Amino acid sequence: MKGIVLAGGAGTRLWPATRALSKQLLPVYDKPMIYYPISTLMSGGIREMLIITTPRDLCLFQDLLGDGAAWGVSFEYAVQDQPRGIADAFRVGEKFVSAERTALVLGDNLFLGQGLAGRIRAATASVEHATVFAYRVSDPQRYGVIEFDDSGAAVSIEEKPIAPKSDWAVTGLYIYRSDVVDIVAGLQPSERNELEITAVNQVYLDRSQLQVERLGRGVAWLDAGTHDSLLEAADLVQAVEHRQGVKLACPEEMALAWGWIDLEQVARLGRNMGGSTYAQYLSKIARTGGTPLELL
Ligand code: DAU
Repeated sequence: MKGIVLAGGAGTRLWPATRALSKQLLPVYDKPMIYYPISTLMSGGIREMLIITTPRDLCLFQDLLGDGAAWGVSFEYAVQDQPRGIADAFRVGEKFVSAERTALVLGDNLFLGQGLAGRIRAATASVEHATVFAYRVSDPQRYGVIEFDDSGAAVSIEEKPIAPKSDWAVTGLYIYRSDVVDIVAGLQPSERNELEITAVNQVYLDRSQLQVERLGRGVAWLDAGTHDSLLEAADLVQAVEHRQGVKLACPEEMALAWGWIDLEQVARLGRNMGGSTYAQYLSKIARTGGTPLELL
């Protein structure tokens, strides 16, 4: 399976912090924000990724991530010249999408906790359905919202409803079949002039092909798109990392657990990470072997 990380947008809700720099390059505690969605895809076993960003920020992402070989993965890049909507990722990335299924993750979405990786892997095995993940939130009007019937089946989906029919938000992780490209080609821009991902999900729902996986308390889902949510995400990461003496969303550790890179490579990457705590962590993993896949 392949994965797209959507890391464009104007980031105006974070101005002036993002006036000159992509939001997805801002740190969430000790690493750039984009490490988190990349780690989410890697946890599901995805090694081929397309990073979509703005013309302005492209070279910064390339500087940071390169071609992915250091982590045993492959990164391609594409530019979205205007923020035309989340579904536009499948227009910009049309050539990248193959007969396999493609996961899309939003560059400002953080999924922390165990259990999601297995569900991503299971979703890739379902050839008939598109899969989205829902999470209970206190402020559903900020999100795409899914309504369920008594049997737990999804019955409606609405983008940022004024009167939400449930408190289940659609998270920024979507797994689609290759027909998503045709669906997006047939979409009209919404009132806010965007190609809405909710409109794509509506098509799958109408065809009874939308699988909605509800995430429980074992997973923390955050989007880091505002000053407060960015700080909250950083606080959470710091608290867990301090308590456990681990690093969350560490792509090097993920790659090691999958066997995509070896201990020697982790040590090499650690030596190139300056005097940071991240460097110390990589050196420790290189000595001790890191965390097994099922605990990441
Ligand atoms: O976070 C989950 C929510 O993401 C979903 O519940 C909503 O259904 C979905 O529409 C989206 O809502 P947001 O209002 O949070 O999306 P936002 O415009 O903030 O974009 C999310 C990320 O995608 C952000 O990191 C910027 C990037 N993006 C967005 C657009 C519209 C792009 O790279 N290009 C774009 O054209």
